[in-house]
Amino acid sequence: MDAFEVHGGARLSGTVHITGAKNSALKLAAASVLSEGRSKLTNVPEIADIPAMADILRHLGVTVTAGPGQLHFDVPARIGGETPPGLARRLRASIVLLGPLLARRGHARVAQPGGCNLGNRNIDMHLSALAQLGAEITIGADHVEARVPGGRLQGADIELPFASVGATENLLMAAVTARGTTTIRNAAREPEITDLAAYLVAMGARISAAGTTDIVVEGVEGLHPADHRVVGDRIEAGTFAVGAALTGGDVRIEGVEPSHLRLPLDKLRTIGAEVIAEDGAVVVRGGATAKATDVVTLPFPGFPTDLQPQFLVLLSQAAGTAMVTENVFDGRVQFVAELVRMGAEIAVEAHHAVVRGPRPLHGATVRATDLRAGAALVLAGLVADGPTVVTDPHHVDRGYADLAGRLRALGADVRRRSDVAAGVA
Ligand code: UD1
Repeated sequence: MDAFEVHGGARLSGTVHITGAKNSALKLAAASVLSEGRSKLTNVPEIADIPAMADILRHLGVTVTAGPGQLHFDVPARIGGETPPGLARRLRASIVLLGPLLARRGHARVAQPGGCNLGNRNIDMHLSALAQLGAEITIGADHVEARVPGGRLQGADIELPFASVGATENLLMAAVTARGTTTIRNAAREPEITDLAAYLVAMGARISAAGTTDIVVEGVEGLHPADHRVVGDRIEAGTFAVGAALTGGDVRIEGVEPSHLRLPLDKLRTIGAEVIAEDGAVVVRGGATAKATDVVTLPFPGFPTDLQPQFLVLLSQAAGTAMVTENVFDGRVQFVAELVRMGAEIAVEAHHAVVRGPRPLHGATVRATDLRAGAALVLAGLVADGPTVVTDPHHVDRGYADLAGRLRALGADVRRRSDVAAGVA
C-alpha cells in the first residue's frame, strides 16, 4: 500500500535544510508568464505541485526546464490563455494564473481549481477584485473565463473583504501592467506575498508597501524577465520545529527567516521548548515537559493555519487543556478524528478543538486527509508506540520534498512506501 510507515521512539537530532516555499514558488512560476523571454527561479522545492504547474505552463506555450532546485522559463511572445482542465483541477494554485494571463493577453479561461480538501475554498474575492480592474467574468460549470474589453486592465482602489493570500496575489499580478494606480486594501501580508512582489519588482513592476495591509501598484507598460531565489518555506520549517519539540529532540533548521515564524516559535517556547533564532536559521530543543497553550489561526502575522494540525499533535502530548481555534479553513479540523484514533483526547466543536493532554499515542493506520494533516500524522507516529501507517501520502508529496528521507536523516524511522515497493516486498 502507498503510505508512510513510521516507527516511533527516536528523538530528532541534527541539521535540516529547508527548501523554497511551495506557496511562493507556485505563484512565482505563474508570474513568469507576465514577460516574454527567459527567466529563472532558484531554491525551488522538489515537490509534486511544481511539475504540475510546469505542465500547465507548457500547455500555455512556455518552455519550462527543471534543474536541481531550479526552474527555467522561456516565455514566447504569444502564449495560450486556457489552462488544461485535468491538470488545473489537480493544483488549486493554478487559479493564480488568471491575473497574469489577463494582464498579458486580455483574455483567460482557467479551470476551477482543485487542491487540498479543506472545506469551503471560494474564489469570489479573486473574481470580484479582477472585475474591479475592468475584467468581464463568466463562470462556467468547471471553468472561469475573463476578458478585458479594450485589452488593458484599469487600476482601481480595491478593498478585499478578507486578507486572502490567493486573491492578493492574483490582483497584484493583474495590476502590474494595468493603466494607472491600483491600491489593494486589507491585502494579505504573508512572506510569500512579499516574495512575489520582489520578483515582480525585479521584472520592472512598481510596487510599494508589499507586506503591509495597503499595497500600491503603479501600472507599467511592460515587464522584462528576471531571476529570483524563492523564499524559505516557513511551514516546512515549522513542521520540523514541531517534530523537534515533540520528540524532545535537538534540531537546527537552516534556510528560513525566523521572523516569518515569530508566533509559532513563541508558542513553542510557551509549550516548553528551547528556541534559538539566528540569521536564516532556528534551533529547537524539546524540553523535559510540555505544557498546554491556546492557539488561534489568523492571516499573517497571526498563527498560520498551515501549522495548526502539527501543533494539535504537539498539544496532545502537553500537560493541560488547550483550545485550538481555526479561523481560516473550515475543513481543517477533519483530521482530528484520525489523531483521536491514535489515542489523543480532542473534542471538536465548530471551528474549535479542545485538546486534553498528555495522552499516549498508539500506532494505527490513519489517513492523510490533506497536505498538512498528513505531515502532522507522520509527526504523531514519531511519538506513538507501535507502527503508524499514514495512507494517502500523495497529499504530503504535494508540499514536502522527501519528508521521510529528511526525517530519517534526523534519526527517525520513517519510510515512504510506494505501491511498487510494496508489490516487491
Ligand atoms: C494559501 C495557501 C494555503 C494557506 C492559505 C492561508 C497556497 C497555494 N495556499 O491558500 O496553504 O493555508 O493561503 O495562509 O498559497 N476565500 C474566499 N473567497 C476567495 C478567496 C478565499 O472565501 O475568493 C476564503 C477561503 O475559502 C479560506 C480563506 O478565505 O477560508 C483564506 O483563503 P486564502 O487566504 O485565499 O488562501 P489560499 O490563497 O487559497
